Formats: sequence, structure tokens, C-alpha cells
Amino acid sequence: MDYKNLLVETKDNIAIVTLNRPDKLNALNFDTFAELKHLFLKLQKDDNVYVVIVTGAGEKAFVAGADISELTKQDCLSGKQFAETGQEVFNLIENLGKPVIAAVNGFALGGGCELTLACYIRLASERAKFGQPEVNLGIIPGYGGTQRLANIINPGRAAEYILTADMMNAEEALRIGLVSKVFTPEELLPKAKEMAMKIATKGQISVRLALQAIQKTNELTEKEGQAYEAALFGVCCGTDDFKEGTTAFLEKRKPEFKNK
Ligand code: COA
Repeated sequence: MDYKNLLVETKDNIAIVTLNRPDKLNALNFDTFAELKHLFLKLQKDDNVYVVIVTGAGEKAFVAGADISELTKQDCLSGKQFAETGQEVFNLIENLGKPVIAAVNGFALGGGCELTLACYIRLASERAKFGQPEVNLGIIPGYGGTQRLANIINPGRAAEYILTADMMNAEEALRIGLVSKVFTPEELLPKAKEMAMKIATKGQISVRLALQAIQKTNELTEKEGQAYEAALFGVCCGTDDFKEGTTAFLEKRKPEFKNK
């Protein structure tokens, strides 16, 4: 598939996906969703890709939401499908099985904010602005935002942002834990790559199983989650990477993981 609205660059086991409709502030239209689905299914299967970074083209926006010119044409039935299409793609990103880092370079509004929520690590530039402004349009977040935002920043704060449609700057996003780090606009992508590189040098079996365990937090009780964690811990102990990691430590050298 030729991508019209996405740029993809893969190097050193890291794929950088750039939403690329800067004249429309990278708004998510149907074509972009189809491209995202196709690309992320490909990245999921690609054994050479360990970490994915998602960012937006241009200086202004990460993604300014669903494409409102397409949204305006929806009725009850198609509106439900509209939401389900976005949810399917964002669920795929959330459950990719590999770390996905959002490098939020500007406006992350509506579906753009929801896209960041589907990424397990969120980094922001000082220019980033987050918000769920759907109530301004007479709708509610439809790509998982009511659920994920409430889980990530707590239901009370999520209600405040969703009901007022207020935007949040990077400083506030950092303060309340929506993002884990804030950088200058120039630093954002290099720092995201640096973090991705750091993850890419670890044993990928342990990286993926750790992520899998973290992803169960919302599904399992604490007790079930710990049982799941112990089972995955056991799986790690059966890998060559475990032998290499522990031996390298005792031999005071860097481990050379083979992801086996
Ligand atoms: N869907 C479709 N087009 C969008 C868009 C969206 N979500 N967000 C921005 N655009 C388009 C604008 O229509 C404009 O296109 P044009 O130049 O052809 O008129 C272009 O992107 C630039 O946006 P503009 O509004 O002129 O930039 P701004 O700096 O004045 O404002 C925002 C930036 C982000 C505050 C403003 O674009 C905005 O509020 N966007 C909608 C956000 C939103 O409600 N998202 C949730 C959708 S469910």
C-alpha cells in the first residue's frame, strides 16, 4: 500500500511513523485510518521493528482530531461505525505487543489526544496541547477517550477536561502524569529516538512480556495480575536472553541479547 497521509522511516529496529497532513493539522480522515491499520499490522509482524515512535508533521500539530469535514456527514448508524473504526485502529496500536512512543509535537486534540492515550509512553514538546473538545461539536470522545483518559489521569480530571473541552499545556500534562517527559521542540524527536534505542538494546522478549503484564492492570485484580506476572517471569527464566543477561552481569560485561 502506498501511504498518502503517513511517512514511515525504519532504522536501527525503530520505526518512526509521522502523520502527514500538515495543511489539515494531521486530522484523521478515513484514508488515514485505513493507512494506519495497514501500517501497524505490518509493523506488528516485522521482526526487525522493536519500537515504534508516532509523531505529527509540521510545527503546529501532532493530530488535531478526527477530520471534521467527514464527521459532519455521519448519522446514528454510520457515526457508531465511525467511532468503531477509530477504536479498532487505536486498540491495535495499544495491543501491538511492542512499545509505541507518542512524541507529541503540538496540538493533540480529540482523536489526536486519543491516539496518544493508545501509546504506552507519551513524551511532549513544550508546544504540545492536549484536549478532548468533542462537546464543542455536540459529540463525545469516540475513539476510546472516555475510557483511557479516565484510567490514565483519573475519572475526576478526565471528566473536567472532557466536559469543559479545555486544553491542557505540556506543563500541566506532565504534572498530572499524562506525559512522562517534556522537551523543547528541537529535542523532542532526538529524545524519543534515544529512549527507543535504549529499549531496543534490551532483550525484546522481556520488553514485550513486561509490557504485556502492564497491559493487564485494568483487566485483572491485583491478585490475578500478580499471578500473571509470576507466570511471565517464569517464561523469561527459560530464555537464552535470561542466561545471557545474568551471565553478562556476573562477568561485568554488556549483554548481547539474541531475543531468544
Ligand atoms: N478536521 C478537519 N480539518 C481540521 C481539523 C479537524 N479536526 N483541525 C484543523 N483543521 C484544518 C482547518 O479547517 C484548517 O483548514 P483550512 O486551512 O483548509 O481552512 C487547517 O486545518 C488549519 O487549522 P486552523 O483552524 O486554521 O488553525 P488554528 O491555528 O487557527 O487553530 C486548532 C488550531 C487546533 C485550535 C483548530 O484547528 C481546531 O480547533 N481544530 C479542531 C479541533 C477539534 O475539535 N478536534 C476534535 C475533532 S472530533
